[in-house]
Amino acid sequence: MPFKRRLILVSNREPYSFKKGKVELSAGGLVTALDPVMQRTRGIWVAWGSGEKERDRAGKAEKVRVPPQKPAYTVKRVWLSHKQLENYYHGYSNRFLWPLCHIVLDRVYLKRAYWNDYKKVNRIFADAIVEEVRSKKAVVWLQDYHLAVCARYIKEKKPWLATTIFWHIPWPPYDVFRVCPQRREILEGMLANDLIGFQLDSFSRHFMDCASIELGADIGLREGVIYYKGHVTKVRDFPISVNFNWFEKCALSKRIKKFLEGIRKTRNLPADGKIGLGVDRLDYTKGLMKRLEIMDLFFSKYPRFRKKFTFIQVAVPTRKVEPFLSYRNRVEKRIDYINRKHGRQEWVPIIYIETKLDQKKLAMLYRIADIALISSVYDGMNLVAKEFIASQVDEDGVLLLSEFAGAAEEIPGATLINPYDIEGCADILRSALERPLEDRRHDMHMARNFVRGNDIFKWVDNILAEMETI
Ligand code: F6P
Repeated sequence: MPFKRRLILVSNREPYSFKKGKVELSAGGLVTALDPVMQRTRGIWVAWGSGEKERDRAGKAEKVRVPPQKPAYTVKRVWLSHKQLENYYHGYSNRFLWPLCHIVLDRVYLKRAYWNDYKKVNRIFADAIVEEVRSKKAVVWLQDYHLAVCARYIKEKKPWLATTIFWHIPWPPYDVFRVCPQRREILEGMLANDLIGFQLDSFSRHFMDCASIELGADIGLREGVIYYKGHVTKVRDFPISVNFNWFEKCALSKRIKKFLEGIRKTRNLPADGKIGLGVDRLDYTKGLMKRLEIMDLFFSKYPRFRKKFTFIQVAVPTRKVEPFLSYRNRVEKRIDYINRKHGRQEWVPIIYIETKLDQKKLAMLYRIADIALISSVYDGMNLVAKEFIASQVDEDGVLLLSEFAGAAEEIPGATLINPYDIEGCADILRSALERPLEDRRHDMHMARNFVRGNDIFKWVDNILAEMETI
């Protein structure tokens, strides 16, 4: 059933980049899936207008029609001052909410100014949204932890306007959430929405617990509803996914043979050697230090795999703020140490590529990898797991997936690992490298069927269908 309402989509990041007058669609599943919906419904996408020189226009917004070649909808670019951005995005969102929701409590850092600007920016977004509402047919869809209290400000001005938020990251249990001094305001802000989406049922349950304990809200656990101060909020889980067909198509590229030969030659990989792969933002929740410990132990315990197995780690630079910055140094130092310890002649056990790779190349890399290793210490979903599966067109690779990633609760055929158990992981890696082809094919086939049938388009459809009911 096609979505009939006028969609006002809101996210911190913009769906298009507007650099030096060039307008380009941003890479990534969410944008790929939502851009066509926006084009069809002629809605409006409100986002922070990123870019250096715009900072002096803080508080104002600019509207741009997209896509440039055949304009169908509007991107409303909201300008923020340098201070607002620092406190709202780097500060409250990424130094406070991010580690809190990922239960990495020793990295939680908070300043009053973070919270004050977080609220201010949520209000700026709310005002920018409300200005665009012309009829009761409009519906607002907020994305993620940057906008936890936005719905409350929207409802102050338009109490009848339907709003939904999808929370892309985990929601922690109450014992962790109570670390948050602003917990009441955050919960009340979230409950101003009519629908809240989480990745997993467990996150929904954590949220309902928090609302019940902290606010005394009435919970309908079975129906997935929260009653608070006369308002009803539905709570649902919608596990996010990837554009399966796109990754599959890229992985089937005719250039694949040349690509593999090129990598083997330039990176000194032996012709018969196996390839392991990690692809992550340089983020401590991805468990990169644990992964490196696994590699170190693996090559010490099983030296026969030297020159027979090489691990490629693609690391995508991310948020320019502590502790992401120092984490990068620790990762680099550790790789250097492991490569000196286990490397032989021109061969190194870990090839480190620190860049945001072109998505088409990434799909080919996923295809040629024999193993993908995901060692997140806690992760809302982890789309790398699904991208790898979608690109595994030969169905001969193995996915080693942390049991603490949301994807582990969904994907059949993944081999689950506990990244805290370094010795156990090193042994699982060895047995994965020796697993017979028939077994690998069986598991990967199952995993591919699952992701094919549950792609990002289905995710969008499910949420929109639920939004139609509010
Ligand atoms: O997982 C949460 C998330 O916001 C994703 O939606 C996004 O791709 C990623 O983190 C990157 O974050 P940022 O916008 O801070 O670079």
